[in-house]
Amino acid sequence: MAHSGVHKDRGELRIHENLDELGTDLAEYIAELSEASVKERGVFTIAISGGSLIGLMGRLCEAPYNKTVDWAKWYIFWADERVVAKTHADSNYKLAKDGLLSKVPVLPSHVNSINDSVSAEEAADDYEFHVRQLVKTRTINVSDISDCPKFDLILLGMGPDGHVASLFPNHPVLDEKDEWVTFITDSPKSPPERITFTLPVINSASNVAVVVTGESKAEAVHLATDDVGADCLSLPARLVRPVRGKLVWFLDKLAASKLDGSQFSE
Ligand code: 6PG
Repeated sequence: MAHSGVHKDRGELRIHENLDELGTDLAEYIAELSEASVKERGVFTIAISGGSLIGLMGRLCEAPYNKTVDWAKWYIFWADERVVAKTHADSNYKLAKDGLLSKVPVLPSHVNSINDSVSAEEAADDYEFHVRQLVKTRTINVSDISDCPKFDLILLGMGPDGHVASLFPNHPVLDEKDEWVTFITDSPKSPPERITFTLPVINSASNVAVVVTGESKAEAVHLATDDVGADCLSLPARLVRPVRGKLVWFLDKLAASKLDGSQFSE
C-alpha cells in the first residue's frame, strides 16, 4: 500500500499504487471480516453495490479465497439496486452474478435480490420486509442503538458527484430517517428507478468500505474526507459515518490525488 492513515471521524484511508494492489487488499479485507463474523455469529451478512466495485472484488474468486472463504455462510444483499429485470444489462444483481456469485459456492438461497417484477416503491417495501424477517431471526444482526439492521459489511462505490448507493446529492431521501430501504424514480445516473438502503442503515453497519478509483472522483474524495467548508457537509459520501462501526476508504492514487495529505504516513 502506498499510504494509509486515519482521518479523525472520516475513517481509515488506504491508498494504493494501482488497481491490482487495491484488489488484493480489498479481497484480504473482505476475507478477514468474513472469517471474524463467521467465528462470532456463524454467518457473514454483506451488502454490495453496483459499478466498478464488483470488478475490483474479482480476486475473491481466485486462490486462496475461492477455497478458504466460508462461502456457505455468506448472505448477500444489495445496498442499492436498479429496478430493472434481473437479466437486464443494468441490473446490479446480474453484474454481481456474472462477475462474482457464479464463480464461488455461495448458496442461491442466501442471495437476497430484489423483486424485479413490481414498481420501485413496491420493490423497496418488499426488500425492507425481507430484511426485517432476517433481522427477526438474527441472521442479520441488529444495532444496539437503533432498531436498524447491522450488516457485517456494506460495500459502496462512489460517483464523481459524491453519491453512494443510490443516495444522490440534494435528494430528499438523504433525510429519510424511518425507512430502511427506500426508492427513487429520478436518479441522475441511468437508469432512473432504483431502491437504496437509507443512511441510518448504512451508518448502523459493523463495517462500511467505500471503494473509489480514478481521477474523475478525486475532487469528491477530497470533499468527502478532508476538512472542508460547511457547504460540503451534505455530500452523500460525507454522510457515511458508521455510528459504532468502522469506515474504510479503498482508494487508488488517482482518486486520492486531491487529498490534503497531512494525515498520511508512508
Ligand atoms: C449503482 C451503484 C452506484 C455505484 C457508483 C459508483 O447502481 O449505480 O450502486 O452507487 O456504486 O455510481 O460506480 P462506479 O464505480 O462504476 O463509478
